[in-house]
Amino acid sequence: MSKNFRVLAAVTLAATLAAASGCSSTRDEDSSSSGGGSSNLVGIAMPTKSLERWNNDGAYLDELLKKAGYETSLQYADNKVDQQITQIQNMINQNPKVLVIASIDGTALGPVLDKAAQQNIKVIAYDRLINSTKNVDYYATFDNYQVGKLQGEFIVDKLGLKDGKGPFNLEPFSGSSDDNNAKFFFSGAWDVLKPYVDSGKLVIPSGKKLSSNDDWKNVSIDGWTSQKAQSEMDNRLNSYYTGGKKVDVVLSPNDSLALGIEQSLESQGYKPGTDWPLITGQDADLANVKNILADKQSMTVWKDTRTLGEQVSKMTDQIIKGETVETNDTTTYNNGVKVVPSYLLPPVVVTKDDVKTKLVDSGFYTADKLGL
Ligand code: BGC
Repeated sequence: MSKNFRVLAAVTLAATLAAASGCSSTRDEDSSSSGGGSSNLVGIAMPTKSLERWNNDGAYLDELLKKAGYETSLQYADNKVDQQITQIQNMINQNPKVLVIASIDGTALGPVLDKAAQQNIKVIAYDRLINSTKNVDYYATFDNYQVGKLQGEFIVDKLGLKDGKGPFNLEPFSGSSDDNNAKFFFSGAWDVLKPYVDSGKLVIPSGKKLSSNDDWKNVSIDGWTSQKAQSEMDNRLNSYYTGGKKVDVVLSPNDSLALGIEQSLESQGYKPGTDWPLITGQDADLANVKNILADKQSMTVWKDTRTLGEQVSKMTDQIIKGETVETNDTTTYNNGVKVVPSYLLPPVVVTKDDVKTKLVDSGFYTADKLGL
């Protein structure tokens, strides 16, 4: 699997580079191109440097686009919506061909994207959908619903819920309420877990109300921060887990939340290998993979962000050359104004047993970095 993946990635990259070098001399003047501005520039707006994945995402996409012959402007917005809008406006002033945007608040970019559209600058929503505007041309992401489904299925499987085991104490969390992905992650997981909550095999001692997927904001951690997740978990454990009651399982949508939750469990005296609960994650962040190896996290849903970078680099190139842009989903992602043609990549579960075969053999991490 990982070898195939690597070969596929290399082939994709080689094709992108070959195609790009073939027409780089005419790109600037090509009036038939679908990309907007007059420059050779691609703007990349990333949400924050504070979470590991966005640093990797930004750096890799920047590298690929430069190798393909484009100039780039890569900006990080410190998770501040206004800052991201200013950065995008500044990029528009430089008249790029394409803007690639991983938004902070998916509903806040309408006005600035109106300006991009006036200059015929094309927009790719990167990883997170941009909502409530017609001025988003493409979306490239991992299958976000599938991420949550994999987390839910992992919990069902590990707890033996299908064999009638339980009841188990569950504490559910969801991601930032301004991130469109968070709703998909939660829905994927809750479609799998809710039947067991309804049958009483999963009990939520903190009493969080989650009677439908639409209630996901009742367990949101805004900004996806580890600190907020830690203090929320502290609150739940202090208030509802008295008299020897223990939490058996935590649905965490990603690794930054899982890290905070794991710190909380540690400070409350939970011990790996004894009473440590099952806990899910997403992203295969370094600290979390180390925690998986140390039995403090049960799994992570790995999204090989290199493949996302390669796909977006390819789509950017196709837009600029006026070629058909590759998509594989034209039904799922309605942003409130239109269905945005999307390319969805497959997420992959990683547990302690396959850290080496999936994360090391694919070159995502060196064994050394993981202390293996
Ligand atoms: C991404 C996740 C990430 C989260 C926090 C989401 O939009 O899809 O991979 O963990 O943001 O950065």
